[in-house]
Amino acid sequence: MKFFVDTADTGEIRDLAETGLLDGVTTNPSLIARSGRDFLGVIREICAMVDGPVSAETIATDHETMLAEGRKLAALADNVAVKVPLTPDGLKTCRVLSSDGVKVNVTLCFSAGQALLAAKAGAAFVSPFVGRLDDVSFDGMALIREICDIYRNYYFETEILVASCRGPLHVVQAAKLGADVATVPPAVLRALYAHPLTEKGLQAFLKDWAATGQAIL
Ligand code: E4P
Repeated sequence: MKFFVDTADTGEIRDLAETGLLDGVTTNPSLIARSGRDFLGVIREICAMVDGPVSAETIATDHETMLAEGRKLAALADNVAVKVPLTPDGLKTCRVLSSDGVKVNVTLCFSAGQALLAAKAGAAFVSPFVGRLDDVSFDGMALIREICDIYRNYYFETEILVASCRGPLHVVQAAKLGADVATVPPAVLRALYAHPLTEKGLQAFLKDWAATGQAIL
């Protein structure tokens, strides 16, 4: 499973990239607004920090303008993935950009039918939002299961990018279903490392080792 981080905070991205476990980055207009940075500048900077895809989202809602925005974003760096919303205009744009060889991430997916359309439109990624579904009493992970089943039936190449992950359990559940990617906030990525028994065990080993008076280096 690939791990993407869902943030436009370049400090966080740099730290996480250094772990060697980061496969890409997703941003959205809210995250860009939160960063307080210039959109195009911050996307360029992020693209230089990570080798994998960096999702940059279009703002227009009509096909023509969205396509022009998508082309401009794609020209920023080789690893830009243009993010478009799951609307008729978004999918029309996805089809054109994908045919031109641009990676497209179709975002705001909340149903299996929508995911089917995104795959047919040639999306490189589809982003179902599990946390936002859970928030309104739908089962976000059930949607991931449905999409995994459907995509397996037809050998679609579109990668299932599980978005709106709220905790480590979302990541583990998505991995059990065979989803391709999880995009997570930095805190969730760090929380994946944590287990109280790891910390407790480490402290005990260090205490016992200190008592031996030895050193490895
Ligand atoms: C994904 O690409 C989205 O940016 C993101 O996962 C949305 O998450 P949220 O529901 O926590 O805002």
